Amino acid sequence: MIPLILDGKKVAESVYQKLLLEVSLLSFVPKITLLRVGEDPASQSYVRSKEKRCLELGLRGETLVLPELISEQELISKILVLNRDKEVNGILVQLPLPSHLNKEKVLRSIDPMKDVDGLHPENAGLLVQGNPRFIPCTPAGILEMLKFYQIAIEGKRIVIVGRSEIVGRPVAQLLLNHHATVTICHSKTKNLEEELKRAEVLIAAIGKPKFIKGDMLSPGVAVIDVGINRVDGQIIGDVDFESVSHKASAISPVPGGVGPMTIAMLMQNLCFAATLQSKKP
Ligand code: GUN
Repeated sequence: MIPLILDGKKVAESVYQKLLLEVSLLSFVPKITLLRVGEDPASQSYVRSKEKRCLELGLRGETLVLPELISEQELISKILVLNRDKEVNGILVQLPLPSHLNKEKVLRSIDPMKDVDGLHPENAGLLVQGNPRFIPCTPAGILEMLKFYQIAIEGKRIVIVGRSEIVGRPVAQLLLNHHATVTICHSKTKNLEEELKRAEVLIAAIGKPKFIKGDMLSPGVAVIDVGINRVDGQIIGDVDFESVSHKASAISPVPGGVGPMTIAMLMQNLCFAATLQSKKP
């Protein structure tokens, strides 16, 4: 079986076409402020890509680079200033943060109406209640990709491996909202292979290179690989593409699968935030 390759760049491009039109209809140019703390090379690269994409869409993107040793209070004060700034429609704190900073406390200080990452507890709660406002970007990107390729969700057995706050948990809620039968597996799951064999759609968000092998899966499964593992200067997914390709009906590659979707969804969330704010007195 030759699987359908789920091309994230192509899907992202279709999102950008829609956004360009949406932006042209606004009477102002949406602005996002990205906060990067410290000099983590991966974070530097992600933030640069986000800023570049803003520019390409005619949006305003600015980055505040803050010192590694910034105090929690200082970081939160910066966020509070941005919350009040009418020019700023979206705020994103690039993760991970240095270990002396309490991530939950920092994320909670963002105005939920500007929380384009969807990580504030208010937005996470709205998603759980089936009434989402901002959906975290990677889960939103996964849904967009499944829809683009017309991979059915309703009534399907979808197995998610990984229970992170950014991917595993929110994507489970999102797919549940779309009427999937969702199973979340994690490092303490017993008989993982039994669970995996039941999957009609598999979402791998584990953070272990090539963890999922073809012999763990049933024929015809659609596989979404969320892994971004840096191994010897290369980016490797959580799925062993070679062996899984023989089993899957569809598979997202790494790189070029979910990755490009994440930034596309951030841009979509920013435009949505700007629209919501423009309707407020
Ligand atoms: N670091 C890796 N993924 C993400 C994300 O989706 N949002 C933020 N803020 N930081 C990240």
